[in-house]
Formats: sequence, C-alpha cells, structure tokens
Amino acid sequence: MDLSGKVAVVTGAGRGLGRAYAEALAQAGAAVVVNDVDAEAAAQVVKTISEAGGRAAEVVAPVGTAEVADLLVGTAVEQFGRLDVMVTNAGILRDRVLWKMSDEDFDAVVNVHLRGTFTCARSAAVRMREQGTGGRLILISSPAGQRGNFGQTNYAAAKAGIVAMARTWAMELAKAGVMVNAMVPVAATEMTKTIPAFGPVIEESERNGTPFPDWLRKGEGLGTVQDVASLVVFLASDAAEGITGQAIGIGGDKLALWTHPQEKVTAYADGGWSADAIAGSWHGSVGSQPETYGVPAPKA
Ligand SMILES: NC(=O)c1ccc[n+]([C@@H]2O[C@H](COP(=O)([O-])OP(=O)(O)OC[C@H]3O[C@@H](n4cnc5c(N)ncnc54)[C@H](O)[C@@H]3O)[C@@H](O)[C@H]2O)c1
Repeated sequence: MDLSGKVAVVTGAGRGLGRAYAEALAQAGAAVVVNDVDAEAAAQVVKTISEAGGRAAEVVAPVGTAEVADLLVGTAVEQFGRLDVMVTNAGILRDRVLWKMSDEDFDAVVNVHLRGTFTCARSAAVRMREQGTGGRLILISSPAGQRGNFGQTNYAAAKAGIVAMARTWAMELAKAGVMVNAMVPVAATEMTKTIPAFGPVIEESERNGTPFPDWLRKGEGLGTVQDVASLVVFLASDAAEGITGQAIGIGGDKLALWTHPQEKVTAYADGGWSADAIAGSWHGSVGSQPETYGVPAPKA
C-alpha cells in the first residue's frame, strides 16, 4: 500500500491501537499528526516514525472540544499542507453497572469517544470539502457498541453512536468523495488486558513472546495491534475508494463485516396494534425469534 502524499490525523496515538495506526500509516508513506493527552508517549511515537524515515508531528491535547479538533486539522494543514485521513481513536473507560454509574463517568466517556469523534470528523469534513479531493473518516467503534456489554453503559452508548454517525456521514459526504467507515477492532492492549480471560495470555505473550493461541486469534478475533492497523491502512488507501457506510471488524486472524440493524420480523394489524393484541400475538409473531444481546464472554 502506498500512501505517499497523503496526510492523516490519528487521535489517541500515544500507545495501543492508535500508536499502531500512526506507525502503519507513516510506514506506508503518509505524514501523520500524532495526538494524545500523554505528551511523553506522543513524543516517543513521533520520534519512532521520524527515525524510521517517516514524517510526523505531535499535538498534545484532549479531544472532545471543537478547539482541539480544529487544532488537529490546522496542524495537518500547516505542517504537511493538507488533510486526507482522520482516524478518531482516542478513548477511555469508566466501567460501572448502571446503578453505580455517576454522571461524571457517563459524561467523561461520551465526551472523549462520541463528542471527540463528532468534533474531529466535523473539522476534517470542513477541510476535505474545501480541498475538493475526497478523503477518509475512519471512526473507531467496538463490539460493545454493536451488542451492548455488562458494565459499559457509557462506552456502549458512545460506540453505538459512532456507528450511527458513520452511516449518517457516509450519506452526507458521498458527494464530496469522502468515504466514512466505522471499525470494530479487537486487540491486546492496556484496555483489553483488564478482561480476565485475556489478561494472563496477553501478559504471558509480552513476557515470553509466546504467540496467541488459535482460540484467541481465530475464536475471539484477538491479536496484536499491528493486525488491526492493516485495516486502517487499507481504508486510507485508494484501494478503498467506494467503500463507505460500513462497520468493519478486525482482530487476530479475523476480518468481518457487521450487519446493519434492520426489521427482522414484521406483523400487521388493521387499524394498529392494541396492547392486548400485541400480548396475544407476541410469542407467535415478532417475538418468536428474539435477538441476543451482550458481548459473549470469552471462552478458552
Ligand atoms: N483494545 C481493543 O481490543 C479495543 C476494542 C474495541 C475498541 N477499542 C477502541 O480502540 C481505541 C484505542 O483503544 P486501546 O485499546 O488502544 O486503548 P489505550 O487505552 O491503550 O489507548 C488509548 C489512548 O488514547 C489516549 N487518550 C485518552 N483520552 C484522550 C483524549 N481525550 N484525547 C486524546 N487522547 C486520549 C490515551 O492517553 C491512550 O494513549 C479506543 O477508542 C477503544 O475504545 C479497542
């Protein structure tokens, strides 16, 4: 994949998946604006990219506000002359069950993930429409947003909202040639290390370089951050022209396309449905094949 001449912004690129996205984009030839709240981590990524012969600039600032979004796009334009790719990856977790989740837990997660994606994508869309040469918005979602997940009210809501925004913006930006897709990644990072079934295997691999077993790479679709970064490079490239409005899963050995929710079973009652009529027909009609919910617990 050759991304020379393209300019990308990656939010939350100081470590984990964001770092892998920034490094993979730079390795493919793109100039990259590396954003994070962790100044040391961001500087290290810029140094690694520069030492490998790539081009990168850092912006240490918390995504969420319009000002930071404008700063990221402005830096891409000032340092590298244009903007082609916006990867909205920055994220935090504040897991609590609903009845223990505070307003602050909710707002903090929604602010970084949902609002951060909105503001960064909006600034990028303004710039890409001015440039008139298309572009890419790559929005990072999660299995929790697709299915719901125990203890993740705030995160699941934000990540589901991100896929909804991708589908909306794919429509709105089609004429401008901007492709908009959501990614549903799974990878070994500081975030996934906290999942009890994954933690020990990830730590063992970090200690001894032991490759992940098949039940992880194929079964759970969990591998390294580099496994996931390939999809970002593909979506950023000219080879992905025309691919838009999709939610695409990747992790370990697995690549996947997520379905778009749609009506599965329908039933009609002349003049509309009374509560009694719904009760009488539920189990034999629309309620006969209920949907599953929740991310299934990992199985070794
Ligand atoms: N790891 C997985 O398997 C997985 C699965 C699904 C989705 N995701 C999503 O992928 C993204 C990256 O996850 P990760 O596992 O690499 O997490 P991570 O915690 O390792 O890295 C997140 C990075 O974002 C930075 N960050 C946090 N708040 C920020 C802000 N306001 N502005 C800028 N940077 C900020 C952090 O400092 C950190 O460097 C997140 O959006 C996460 O929800 C990860």
